[in-house]
Amino acid sequence: ANAATWKDVQWPEMKNDLVLRAARGEETPRAPVWVMRQAGRYLPEFLAVRKDHSFFECCQTPELAAKLTLQPIDRYPLLDASIIFCDILVVPQALGMEVLMEPTKGPVLPEPLRKPEDLARLREVVDVQKELGYVFDAISLTRKGLDGRVPLIGFCGAPWTLMAYMCEGGGSKTFENSKGWLYKWPVESKKLIMKVADVCADLLVGQVLAGAQMLQVFDSWAGELTPHHFAEFALPACVYIQKKVRHCLRELGHADVPMTLFAKGVHSPASLALLKKELTGYDTIGLDCGLDPVEARQLLGSGLNLQGNFDPAILYGGREGIEREVARVCPRFHEAGEGWIANLGHGITPNVKPEDMGWFLECVHKYSKRA
Ligand code: CP3
Repeated sequence: ANAATWKDVQWPEMKNDLVLRAARGEETPRAPVWVMRQAGRYLPEFLAVRKDHSFFECCQTPELAAKLTLQPIDRYPLLDASIIFCDILVVPQALGMEVLMEPTKGPVLPEPLRKPEDLARLREVVDVQKELGYVFDAISLTRKGLDGRVPLIGFCGAPWTLMAYMCEGGGSKTFENSKGWLYKWPVESKKLIMKVADVCADLLVGQVLAGAQMLQVFDSWAGELTPHHFAEFALPACVYIQKKVRHCLRELGHADVPMTLFAKGVHSPASLALLKKELTGYDTIGLDCGLDPVEARQLLGSGLNLQGNFDPAILYGGREGIEREVARVCPRFHEAGEGWIANLGHGITPNVKPEDMGWFLECVHKYSKRA
C-alpha cells in the first residue's frame, strides 16, 4: 500500500487490539505490553540473520525487516504490539548523509554537520517514497505477516535527537557539537530541526498509509537539554510532526492513528507540564524509569495515556526480582489511571536471556489485571 493504493487494501481482521484501546484512553482489563527494541541483539534468531547481513541491509530489504519484526512476535505470544524493524537514522540518510553501523561503536556519520554552511549538503527536497520506500514496503509485508495477531507500530526519531547524531557524527557524552550549534547558531539550528521534522512527518504518514496502526516518536536525547532548550528546540518540532501527520492523514481521507511521544530523560516538572495533551496533541507519553507514574500523572494532567516504565535492568534481576518489581509497579500505573501501555523505560539491552523477557511478559499479564 502507498499513497496511491492504500484505500484498496483489506488488512486481516485484528485478533488483539488491546494496545490501540489503551492508546485511545481506555482502561483495559490488563495492560497491553511491548518492549522498545524488542527485535534485537538479545534474540539468537536475530543474531543468526545479522551474521549474513549488515544492519542497514536488514533495514533496507523489506523481506528481512519483516522477518526480524516478526521474530519476537512468533517467539512471545504474550506481546501485544510489534514495532517495525528499522532505525531512527534512516532520516539523516534520506537527507543525504552517510550513516554506518559499526559493530562496537554503534552509529557513525563520517561527515557530520559542523557549521551552518554544511546545511547546503542536505537534500533540498526529500522524496520519502524514493528514499524510504523500503520502509513502507517492509510495513506492508509485516502487516500481512502479522495476520491480525497484534497491531504494528511505525516510528521515527525526534528532530533534536537526529540533529544530535547529525552534528556529532555518532553518539556523544558531551554533546559538544550539537549543543554547541544550539548556543552558537539558534536560528540555523531551528532551520535544521524543522527540515528534519518535515522528513520525519512524511515518513510517519507513509508508514500509516502502508499499514502502521500506531506511531511513536523517539526523543532519546531530550533529557540532555536544559528545560529551556527542550521547550525552545526539541518539543516544538515534535508538536509540528504531530500536527503535520494528522493534517496529512485527514487530507488523504485516512483515519487518525494514536501517537506516542517518548521524551527520554525529561524530568523537570516544568518540562513535564509542557507534555499535557492539550499542548502537544500526542495521545500517549512514554515514561522512562526515572519517573513515578503517579507523580508524572499529576504533572501531565488528564486525557493522556502513559507508556512505560520498567527499568530495563529488571531483566537482569532473575525470576523473583522481575516478579517483585512488576508487582510493585503495576499498582502505581493503576493509581495513575487512564490508558496504560506497559513497556520498559528504555530499550531492552543485549545479554538479556530470552526466557527472562518471556517471564517479564508473563508477570505483566498477571499483575496488571484490573481488580
Ligand atoms: O524496537 C525495535 O526493535 C525496532 C527497531 C529499532 C532499532 N532502533 C533497531 C536497532 C528502533 C525503534 C530503534 C530506535 C533507535 N535507534 C533509537 C531510539 C531508541 C533508543 O534506544 O533510544 C536510537 C537512539 C537509535 C540509534 C541507534 N541504532 C544506536 C545508538 C544503535 C547502536 C546501539 C544499539 O542499540 O545496538 C543502533 C543500532 C540498532 N538499531 C540495532 C538494532 C536492532 C543493533 C544493531 C546491530 O545489530 O548491530
